[in-house]
Amino acid sequence: MSLLKDELQDPANLLLPRAIEAALRAGRVMKRLFASGLRADTKSGPHDLVTEADRRAEEYILDCLHSRFPDHTLVAEESGVLGPGDPESIHWLIDPLDGTMNFVRNIPIFAVSVAAVHKGDPCCGVVYNPIMDALFTAWRGGPVELNGKRLEVSKTARVCDALLGIGLPHNPERRRREMAGSVNRVMRAGATFMRLGSAALNLAYVAAGNLDGFWELTYEPWDVAAGILMVRQAGGVVSNLDGSPLSDDKMGIVAAAPGLHQELVDLLSQGSRE
Ligand code: IPD
Ligand code: CA
Ligand code: CA
Repeated sequence: MSLLKDELQDPANLLLPRAIEAALRAGRVMKRLFASGLRADTKSGPHDLVTEADRRAEEYILDCLHSRFPDHTLVAEESGVLGPGDPESIHWLIDPLDGTMNFVRNIPIFAVSVAAVHKGDPCCGVVYNPIMDALFTAWRGGPVELNGKRLEVSKTARVCDALLGIGLPHNPERRRREMAGSVNRVMRAGATFMRLGSAALNLAYVAAGNLDGFWELTYEPWDVAAGILMVRQAGGVVSNLDGSPLSDDKMGIVAAAPGLHQELVDLLSQGSRE
């Protein structure tokens, strides 16, 4: 059997351990640099940031994955695409530091997110918050775990009972035009909110049942690949904002406990603009 086939059939043993090692190594770098007053550079705007910690953590992850999987494609937020780029190969989607705004403001809510994806289908994923030493892991067909303890999504079945995570676009105009209306509708329906500032952690918390659901309009594949697998494997539902199957065309993402997903989608798709 080919190596690729082996890896796809046994991600728990052939992919996940290295993903964990990469995330733990990157986490150690971030923990060392946390609250050390690193300068933040802006990317697309004043709320889209990058620091030396993002870059250094990413280097560790790339080294760790490339040395073990030279035939795989690495897609990393700060470095772009490395490796063969062959659509048949496993693609690693890497966000070395998801929640840079929190990191810069000394708020310890951020994570490394690493996922192995084959033809759009996640095979394994890791989300690691080094400050809380919280290691979320998942592999296709297997359990979702937090530090070895199995997780399940919440049983909440009504939006009026829900605690939801939200993500906000970096672009202020999109925040006003496209988020204010949906937040207002969901709030009127009775839900309450958290804006944690890390899409990867939001999804991990949905998988763990700490949050009942999460939605965000704008995201990149490395923000969500590991978390999507976690939510699905923990029994939750992930889709575009209008409830259609999740696509790459930036139609937003909603992840929720199964009893809640449809009601949330109905509220979110009542018109995305105000
Ligand atoms: C951001 C965080 C944030 C989300 C943004 C992401 P970064 O990632 O996940 O919660 O709202 O869409 O870009 O820039 O901290 O890696
Ligand atoms: Ca991110
Ligand atoms: Ca990032």
